[in-house]
Amino acid sequence: MTAYASYPSLRGRSVLVSGGATGLGAEFVSQFAAQGASVAFVDVQDAAGEALAAETGAVFRRVDVSDLEAYAAAIADLAAATGPFTVLVNNAANDARHRSAEVTPAFWDERMRVNLDHHFFATQAVVPMMRAAGGGSVINLGSISTHIKLRDLVVYRTAKAAIEGLTRALAQELGPDGIRVNCIVPGWVMTARQLEHWVDAEAEATIEREQALSRRLVPADVARMALWLAADDSAACTAQSWVVDGGWM
Ligand SMILES: NC(=O)c1ccc[n+]([C@@H]2O[C@H](COP(=O)([O-])OP(=O)(O)OC[C@H]3O[C@@H](n4cnc5c(N)ncnc54)[C@H](O)[C@@H]3O)[C@@H](O)[C@H]2O)c1
Repeated sequence: MTAYASYPSLRGRSVLVSGGATGLGAEFVSQFAAQGASVAFVDVQDAAGEALAAETGAVFRRVDVSDLEAYAAAIADLAAATGPFTVLVNNAANDARHRSAEVTPAFWDERMRVNLDHHFFATQAVVPMMRAAGGGSVINLGSISTHIKLRDLVVYRTAKAAIEGLTRALAQELGPDGIRVNCIVPGWVMTARQLEHWVDAEAEATIEREQALSRRLVPADVARMALWLAADDSAACTAQSWVVDGGWM
């Protein structure tokens, strides 16, 4: 039987997850809640968000994270409900494919808002809470797509590359306050959305060829890395990218 770690330092810790209603985000919400953390999450999918809140006891708020003012206001409200956040998981994203020739300035801005900007502004909103608590952990979500050959994803890949730079810059700036900033770089994870849209027979063959491990990655694999980065067990780790990709090469 496989058994996984539990982290005493996560008990009662206040955690915010963006894009928490489905996919990896939902697994983060479930796993942090199972560790006894006090979890809040935001998303644009009402039904999935409400169902997950009922199942886990986490607090859900419908917010579009690309509306930066609404998101900042929601963070303040949610912190009043769950306690000041000392863990932030910047997870919301949109990986819909796009052809470079068809990218307009408006599309570029919209995709940067949903894939990049909120990472910075949510961090800005929680930093005073983390400072007051004597420290915290910010966990950004990068992507293997920045590092491998993929088509029709230039804007998304650019945003995900920027998140790795943002991680290092914020880690330097916030380190003196005991605030750690790390980036998880997932490989190809079999979420419902990936299975529905992209994982066909050809993709299966690619995974089999490129991944060192033959097993398929599942959201829980990535969530376990997030737990560790949020817990005191990783207290000396900041400014890094943590790759969970099954050994893609
Ligand atoms: N699944 C993978 O294989 C994979 C690989 C590399 C990186 N990632 C990264 O991991 C994170 C989670 O990926 P996922 O596969 O679960 O994504 P997903 O698309 O399945 O889920 C994203 C969640 O964010 C929400 N969301 C989207 N736009 C939003 C908005 N404007 N405001 C609020 N919520 C919004 C969605 O409703 C959804 O619940 C993302 O940052 C993604 O880039 C995933």
